[in-house]
Amino acid sequence: MMIQIKQTAQLLRNCRRLVVLTGAGVSKESGVPTFRDAMDGLWAQFDPAQLATPQAFQAHPKRVWDWYEYRRDLVRQAHPNPGHFALAELERRVPQFILVTQNVDDLHEQAGSQRILHLHGKIAQNKCFFNCQGDPTLIDLDRSQSAWIDGVPACPHCGRWVRPDVVWFGEVLPLDILHEAAEASRDCDLMLVIGTAGLVDPAGSLPRVAKQAGAQVIEINPDHSAITRYADIKIDGPSGEVMPAVIKAMDHAR
Ligand code: OAD
Repeated sequence: MMIQIKQTAQLLRNCRRLVVLTGAGVSKESGVPTFRDAMDGLWAQFDPAQLATPQAFQAHPKRVWDWYEYRRDLVRQAHPNPGHFALAELERRVPQFILVTQNVDDLHEQAGSQRILHLHGKIAQNKCFFNCQGDPTLIDLDRSQSAWIDGVPACPHCGRWVRPDVVWFGEVLPLDILHEAAEASRDCDLMLVIGTAGLVDPAGSLPRVAKQAGAQVIEINPDHSAITRYADIKIDGPSGEVMPAVIKAMDHAR
């Protein structure tokens, strides 16, 4: 693994335009279960893909709302791990840097990353299910919370359901964010892919976009993923250990 880390450090030192793509694996060492981790307790009986859909919310608004409250609680108890901090340090060292994340937690922000694109939304934010004031109609429940309907908060504008501001299965991603991520993937000279199975598009196809545009692709993941076949360098390890080692190697790279 040390050889790959040294090679990665050398490429990062010479890199002008870097895109980092992260997935749930980056937050795993912070105690936030990955999307495909078996859920525990009350939620073990449910498949996430059966909860994270507009249809599931319309059929069982309180169940889906309570599941997100459970996940928000996990995120609130989590703290950035050394992998998050190393990515914030990397941003300070590369001339053009953008962090594209599939994660809905705010651990990258907490660790100090600045240039972040959230492809799948932010779990701490809420919006009107019907976007009654325009897409998105964000709702600050701390300031406007009063009524409830069907076991979920009511939109202060239209009185109907409030929902988490995350992308559900079958929904389109925020097009402006997706466009910026695709542009950056086409322009970069290096893409670093960390902690994603690469199974969900369009995020999962960004490494291929970068590769086809001539970039080199480096993957950090303890397991094999759908990205691995595009990787010029594959580092088999957890990001919380590998990323700090990469930063350290950058300090010693010739
Ligand atoms: P997954 O749970 O599908 O995959 C997590 C990946 O992280 C796996 O490839 C693991 O091998 C890897 N992994 C686990 N621990 C790690 C560690 N310590 N360091 C590095 N990698 C580690 O999560 P995602 O690929 O992020 O979308 O899932 C992508 C999307 O699928 C999610 O954003 C979600 C889901 O549908 C939406 O909610 C729209």
